[in-house]
Amino acid sequence: MLLTLEGLDGSGKSSCIDALRSSTAVPEGAVFTREPTDSWYGEAVRRSIADDRADPLAELFLYTADHAAHLSGTVRPALERGAPVISDRYSDSRFAYQGATLAGAYEFDDPVAFVRGVHEPWTRPPDATIYLDVDPETAAERSGATNKFETTAYLESVQENYERLIEQERERFVRIDASPPEDDVVDQVIEAVGTLL
Ligand code: TYD
Repeated sequence: MLLTLEGLDGSGKSSCIDALRSSTAVPEGAVFTREPTDSWYGEAVRRSIADDRADPLAELFLYTADHAAHLSGTVRPALERGAPVISDRYSDSRFAYQGATLAGAYEFDDPVAFVRGVHEPWTRPPDATIYLDVDPETAAERSGATNKFETTAYLESVQENYERLIEQERERFVRIDASPPEDDVVDQVIEAVGTLL
């Protein structure tokens, strides 16, 4: 079982992951992981995030390289030995975020479909995805706009892309309203994960 958590920056994902780590809702032996990863590929991604002039297409492929290494080094081995995997961000982040950056920079007819197409032949899609739903203004405010991705305008287009993904695969997504106080959101996420696992 591959379970992923997605949402805009500032949706409270990190607190939910922290709570899940010590929750009895998660079976022993579950693997907690994240994208961007802590590998040197993930390090390259972080360098790109910090570079306001990074080329969006180059950035997509850095994230995608990180995903490939994450799949072969962590996700597939864990799934093969039967361990549940919980990933803080995964391929939907690329579809939504890079779908938005590419829309502004390259003349793709459908940037989200392009990014999906890059993944499709080799990725392992999640079995279930919890989407922490927060409006872009709250997201930008909470995240403190510390990188180029955290502005309201950009997050609005990321949100639109997430909504499109949910529309296309309703059965995979569990939407949780992330606007209430953090403790309430954390409780809901734990409940949802308990049900899914
Ligand atoms: P993340 O590590 O979740 O943020 P934080 O540093 O706040 O914990 O992700 C870093 C940023 O990268 C975040 O703004 C979302 C963005 N991102 C993408 O644009 N594409 C991706 O594929 C991923 C995994 C993250």
